[in-house]
Amino acid sequence: MAQMESSQLDMARKIEKKGISEIPADSRPVYHLSSPVGWMNDPNGFSVYQKEYHLFFQYHPFSKIWGPMHWGHCKSSDFIRWEYLPVAMAPDEKYDAGGCYSGSAIEVEGEHVLLYTGVTDRYLEDGTHDYCQVQCMAKGDGLNYRKYEGNPVIAGKNIPEGGSTENFRDPKIWKEGEFYYLVAGNCNAEKNGQILLYRSSNLEQWEFLAVLDQSRGEYGKMWECPDFFPLGNRQILMVSPQDMRAVGYEFHNGNNSVFIYGDYDNSTYRFVREKIMSVDYGLDFYAPQTLQTEDGRRIMIGWMQSWDAKLEDDCCNWSGMMTLPRELILREGRIYQSPVRELERYRKNKIEYTGKRISGRTALDGVRGRVIDLQVDIMEFGFHHFSICFACNEEYEMLLQYNHLRKCLTIDRTGSGLVRDVVCRRKMVAEPFVSETQEEVLSLRLLLDKYSAEVFINGGERVMSAVFHTPMEAEGIVFDTDGVVCMDVVKYDICV
Ligand code: FRU
Repeated sequence: MAQMESSQLDMARKIEKKGISEIPADSRPVYHLSSPVGWMNDPNGFSVYQKEYHLFFQYHPFSKIWGPMHWGHCKSSDFIRWEYLPVAMAPDEKYDAGGCYSGSAIEVEGEHVLLYTGVTDRYLEDGTHDYCQVQCMAKGDGLNYRKYEGNPVIAGKNIPEGGSTENFRDPKIWKEGEFYYLVAGNCNAEKNGQILLYRSSNLEQWEFLAVLDQSRGEYGKMWECPDFFPLGNRQILMVSPQDMRAVGYEFHNGNNSVFIYGDYDNSTYRFVREKIMSVDYGLDFYAPQTLQTEDGRRIMIGWMQSWDAKLEDDCCNWSGMMTLPRELILREGRIYQSPVRELERYRKNKIEYTGKRISGRTALDGVRGRVIDLQVDIMEFGFHHFSICFACNEEYEMLLQYNHLRKCLTIDRTGSGLVRDVVCRRKMVAEPFVSETQEEVLSLRLLLDKYSAEVFINGGERVMSAVFHTPMEAEGIVFDTDGVVCMDVVKYDICV
């Protein structure tokens, strides 16, 4: 398929190509997707197309800050090695001139169909602000995409009464039987977030079916970036609410991403919420999206950043990265997340310590590095505090601290070299579990990739993600405790 005729897209593609060629490859994470050049936010269009994984993203290749949104594009055959593809869409139509906002993708009869939000944002001559969000479609061949001439496919008249035309975005599409369905985020008359469900037989005409769930003020305002999928014997509505207030260690102030765990009757379109929990308990995680692989795995990827943090670095010309894709499974009422199993193929140079007893500050021979997979299983708890300092040297440190009395784990980037940030620390509940041999174990798996850490506790029962810009020379790992700890440690380098 030929590239669309669009000078804006041409320009973005040129800027991108030049930008990529000027960025040293070693300034990037090794096994996480980073922005090709300039700014990146939400993952979009995470899908399988012609047996490869495609990922698009909110993108502003012209600068390192958010600007008129384009769709960046890349693909992978194993979720670890990503190949950059040229920018897929630019905001070059009347209905999306204010930006091509988030959305999703699906393969239909050999074509790659994108559903996204077109934004109109302009001032008219009489001084009024013309602002609205509509849902649009584009089709392509995995490289070039053409916007549908009948766009938008869902606009104002298709929004239920009281629903906002200004906050109506982020369509996530799937197919069930003969029909296509999509969910989109919206605000109701009380300015609370709600998720709208639509159905179509041809991708062009969409019928509004139901409001699946909504905030009553308790879970923030606008609900962004919904996804809706079965997991085990339950249905999960995943949303990213704006403007939430902290609740204990579960939710933090500002934008959160939550799993709403419930039951869904697809004949009446009724979703019954049973419980709601954070997707990630770290400092940098937002707007996750999932796909289903051919072997049936539900894989989630998120933007590893937060709208509220202020992480500045002037070292390189890219800004923003994604989490490692994670496999989701349902176990005993919780959604477990684990790094995609494909990562295991890239683990090298195993270093192992079994039943290692330490007290005070201790470094272990061979346990260091910034691109590693580190497993620490704690089996004896003769302490109040135990911490793992990583990405550390005399000047810098990232800190993961476990308080055994309070059964909580803190991630802390105060010492990571930031000169501006409001949010440096976050805590989450972390209870040891009882192993098959009836011992209490707290299991921590720490994935480091130069500028990020993802911590999976107890096999993925909870996860915390954070980014930091500590200089690469700080690659030490130090264990520290005020008592005695006995632990098993396994470390691998990740070599891609
Ligand atoms: C979420 C979000 C989406 C929107 C996009 C714009 O981070 O605000 O709701 O589509 O970012 O870039």
